[in-house]
Amino acid sequence: MSKDVIIALDFDSKEKVFNFLDKFEGKKPFVKIGMELYYAEGPEIVKEIKSRGHKIFLDLKLHDIPNTVKKAMKVLSELDVDMTNLHASGTINMMKGAIEGLTRADGTRPMLIAVTQLTSTDQESMENDLLIKEPIDKVVMHYASNAKIAGLDGVVCSPLEAGKVHGVCGNEFVTVTPGVRLAGDAVGDQKRVTTPALARELGSDYIVVGRSITGAENPVEAYNRCLREFLGE
Ligand code: C5P
Repeated sequence: MSKDVIIALDFDSKEKVFNFLDKFEGKKPFVKIGMELYYAEGPEIVKEIKSRGHKIFLDLKLHDIPNTVKKAMKVLSELDVDMTNLHASGTINMMKGAIEGLTRADGTRPMLIAVTQLTSTDQESMENDLLIKEPIDKVVMHYASNAKIAGLDGVVCSPLEAGKVHGVCGNEFVTVTPGVRLAGDAVGDQKRVTTPALARELGSDYIVVGRSITGAENPVEAYNRCLREFLGE
């Protein structure tokens, strides 16, 4: 499995994105395009970043009836991204539909990973708002198992859950983990954070890093530090 650092391109315009990516000169980091940038700039931004040679995780978190998700995934498969995602709470049937839609005529497809419970959802809001009374940890592992049954490649989770997900779903089942900060950086709105070095020890396969790189005085140096710590080089 190829471990990597994914930079969250949480910008609201393509000018800001290209200004940021230009700093990397010859390097082509794996990047994440989220809802803000995608909705601001449309599919063209995906094509432009792809044509510059970057791998792309398109983080749109689909959740709808299986047929709609299947057809939306078919459109996304044509954008030639490397990874995309959905909400596991859409059920196993929705996830199976997503795989069908995403798979191209030649049998290839981007990696597909599932969000289990958002990290903004805690035990209290899950019980009160969603009427799910089980412990959140159990719910996360159950949703991860459902994603595996549906044929997905992995889940988005905290580095602190990566080991348990691998224990339940196997080491080949990919863990993509946000909530990572370089030591000394502000935590911001993330509740439980780990360093890239700790995420490596805990078994994360990909770390998603936003502000520790995009907000750094020297983003290229911060990215290189994340890579060194996470890959242990
Ligand atoms: O700036 P920061 O490193 O906190 O950015 C993390 C990125 O990962 C953001 O794009 C955020 O939306 C995303 N993310 C997250 N937690 C999740 C899922 C996605 O922080 N559970």
